[in-house]
Amino acid sequence: MASRRPGAQEWVPAHPTLPALRAAVQECRGCELYRDATQGVMGDGARTARLLLLGEQPGDQEDQQGEPFVGPAGQVLDDALGDAGIAAADVFRTNVVKHFRWSGTRGKRRIHQSPHRGHVDACRPWLQAELALVRPRGVVVLGGTAGQALYGPRFRVGEARGRRLAWPDDLQLDHPPDWTLATTHPSAVLRARGERQAAYDALVADLRVAAGLL
Ligand code: URA
Ligand code: SF4
Repeated sequence: MASRRPGAQEWVPAHPTLPALRAAVQECRGCELYRDATQGVMGDGARTARLLLLGEQPGDQEDQQGEPFVGPAGQVLDDALGDAGIAAADVFRTNVVKHFRWSGTRGKRRIHQSPHRGHVDACRPWLQAELALVRPRGVVVLGGTAGQALYGPRFRVGEARGRRLAWPDDLQLDHPPDWTLATTHPSAVLRARGERQAAYDALVADLRVAAGLL
């Protein structure tokens, strides 16, 4: 059952500020995900941040609080940024999809479902607006959904991670980032069970490469 997805463009203000984007996303009907979510979650961080961290979508906590990366994955990310020597003031955190997609519950927690490509495409105008405002020097791509949002369905984090990549040609910006760098999503560290420390160390190592490119 395909739902109609007009895409977010008509809800994005023509000359926005970051606060204006946050207000406007609450009206977005660019795809059906707004229906089951509490609120839209735009990025957070300084407009002058040199590094933009790109995740997948808000999770259960983010959906309730209206801020990106405030749940368990965000905690892992904060720790890893600290261990990589990247200052919080230097990062802007956001997601490729701005509403939480979920289905079913486990206890009180709603169960995350990855967005489809159709959701990512519908939501892209919000990300483009954030990129145009923040103009980051570099973008760290967290996990497969974000990687595929930029580089297409064949992108694999495992093959691409930890090295400088070029900004994708088909995502046009007046001031494109100089580079991107892909790494694992911090929630994958949480799922790594017995290998959690190794997964965490690999995330920190990739973020150190990003820090060196800044
Ligand atoms: N995972 C994400 O990709 N983004 C968030 O904001 C939180 C968890
Ligand atoms: Fe709009 Fe994105 Fe939310 Fe869909 S997920 S309704 S495109 S903000």
